[in-house]
Amino acid sequence: MAEDNLSFHDWANSILFSSHLEDKLRKISLNHRVDFSFSPMNDVPAGPGRSELHLFSEKQLKFPKASQLYLKQNLAIAMHAFANHELLAIELMALAILILPHHTEQEKKWKLGIAQSLMEEQVHFQLYVDRLKSCGYDFGSFPLSGFFWQRASHFKNFSEYSAVMSLTLEAANLDFANYYQKIFLELGDQVSASILEKVLMDEIKHVKFGVSLLKKLKGDHSLFDYYQSLLPFPLTPARSKGIDFQPHLRKLCGLDNSFIDSIKNFDDQFAITKR
Ligand SMILES: [Fe+2]
Ligand SMILES: [Fe+2]
Repeated sequence: MAEDNLSFHDWANSILFSSHLEDKLRKISLNHRVDFSFSPMNDVPAGPGRSELHLFSEKQLKFPKASQLYLKQNLAIAMHAFANHELLAIELMALAILILPHHTEQEKKWKLGIAQSLMEEQVHFQLYVDRLKSCGYDFGSFPLSGFFWQRASHFKNFSEYSAVMSLTLEAANLDFANYYQKIFLELGDQVSASILEKVLMDEIKHVKFGVSLLKKLKGDHSLFDYYQSLLPFPLTPARSKGIDFQPHLRKLCGLDNSFIDSIKNFDDQFAITKR
């Protein structure tokens, strides 16, 4: 349920800084009364607010082999990792709302777009956690990686945010969501497959949002050159590919053949793209 007594700032602020999951899952109604009378934050915090149980961990858990996802514990490990990515997306989007400027009507519109995506990430998080619970586990049962926070929290403007979040992390998730949806269907796990299908449909919208934003801001550059110039070291376009690269899903997001080919052929010897 959307809470109308919460200001836009306080909503994003409690999502980012509260250590309670229920605060991170609160919704807001994005109507014409959204209040932009707050000043953007100056510094990126070291990390989001997290309870003891949900702190980032250095421990690495091996992601189960696709063929072994019919086993309950493996399914739980996968759902837990996917839920963690959703929670990080929620927190990074709240950070974008708090730290990016909103001087112009366009910037306000973009923030409302980010807020819309954020609330879809909340739905994804809940779907994964419900599935996790049906396997007998809770969010926090396994170590939580903070990798996305470390890589993706240092954007200074809307184009850097979109390049890192939408065109890299979310674009890679187009492949991952499509791949795991197929795996779960092959394993006869309709429930998990339908979650991945929902996530994929929303992810197309989220990538599309970033693509249209970058197209507006790219000036005379090609979209690919502009995109690549925005990525902070050590992120490269290789990170925007998941398992089983899907050109057609990128077309649905408004990317053209030349951009898609540049991504497809991009090789920085990064191991994950070659799994
Ligand atoms: Fe998501
Ligand atoms: Fe997303």
